[in-house]
Amino acid sequence: MSKIKYDFGSGRSDPATFPVAALQAAATKVIEEQAEALTQYPGNLGHEGMRIAMAEREADREGLKIDPNHLLLTNGSMQGVTLTAEALQDNPGDTVLVEEYCYPGTLSAYRSLKYDMVGIPLDEGGMCPDAVEAALSRLDKEKRLPKFIYTISTYQNPTGFVMPKARRLQIIELAKHYNVPIVEDNCYADVHYDGPLEPAFYALDDDPNQIYLCSLSKILAPGLRLGYIYARPPMLEKIMARRHDAGSNYLAAAIAAEFYKEGIQAHAKATNPILKEKRDLTIAGLESELSDICVWSEPVGGLFIWVRIPEDVDRKALRDMALGEGLNFLPGQSFHYQRKDVAYLRLAFGHLTFEQISAGIPILAKCIQSCRGSNERRDFDSLF
Ligand SMILES: Cc1ncc(COP(=O)(O)O)c(C=O)c1O
Repeated sequence: MSKIKYDFGSGRSDPATFPVAALQAAATKVIEEQAEALTQYPGNLGHEGMRIAMAEREADREGLKIDPNHLLLTNGSMQGVTLTAEALQDNPGDTVLVEEYCYPGTLSAYRSLKYDMVGIPLDEGGMCPDAVEAALSRLDKEKRLPKFIYTISTYQNPTGFVMPKARRLQIIELAKHYNVPIVEDNCYADVHYDGPLEPAFYALDDDPNQIYLCSLSKILAPGLRLGYIYARPPMLEKIMARRHDAGSNYLAAAIAAEFYKEGIQAHAKATNPILKEKRDLTIAGLESELSDICVWSEPVGGLFIWVRIPEDVDRKALRDMALGEGLNFLPGQSFHYQRKDVAYLRLAFGHLTFEQISAGIPILAKCIQSCRGSNERRDFDSLF
């Protein structure tokens, strides 16, 4: 395998906008000012200033005040995924509803915990409510209602789509009817490019069964490992009871809180237009190279484009050839809840340079064309 030169694989923000000097200044300040607190264990909820900053982040976006004492800082949102799944599980084999195409980290956590995942088909508005209703009704009859519904409803990973408010309300209605909690993973929430902003589930429903996960990985950097869970008592205590790691990184949280003293949006406002240009460049490349044989999503936020490729592409050969050319992407199979080998691939565009995107898409196109059984046009009716 040659060295990866075009890494469309992992979902990261623009590295050039990582605020080195501002974080250095924040680190120096908090190490001096909070030295005493740093010599102690941080406690289950974590750094108070960071929780206040994240409560303000939520209030800015959702127009709703939340209590910083109901925020639990975690080691990235991934720890939130795992802790909530553990807290809500009674026995291995319990069911959970997930999007048919879903973040591989979540799928792998649920597999490890031996959850029985029920995949809900997606369209351009996210999880289809009719399918949610059918699944809940069937599972209810079988006496194995899911322990929760997991959804990445905003800038979904891998498709990039956003669930409209009306659909969120439908899903809330169904969840209430069957008394099933919703776990919303909103880690892409502030990576917004255009179109209306849709409200988070918790902003539409004050049911204390709702659990919300968020992160700094996609708006600052995953290396900080900073995320949080918003949950209200008694759900909050139930989740905290699963925590045995003596709390999350206090220093990272203190630095981030200091960095965000003037609000979260200033940094996102500087980064999002650059990411948006990268999205546009990736889409323009797909348009000029692959419009006769592929279709793809045009996300209004987030870091991913979901590409449907012709069924006659030899997917194993495509992956090998692309890697041989130094190009990485994630195959559709990684996102399927049952690991089905589907004719899709996901392109992450946030951390590549403009030059890498411009040079990489024609290489991807050449690989797809070479690994096909024919040269015919392939007119898809839809992405799904
Ligand atoms: C939907 C989703 N949830 C969670 C994560 C994990 O993020 P974190 O770095 O905050 O743990 C990711 C990362 O790609 C993701 O896409």
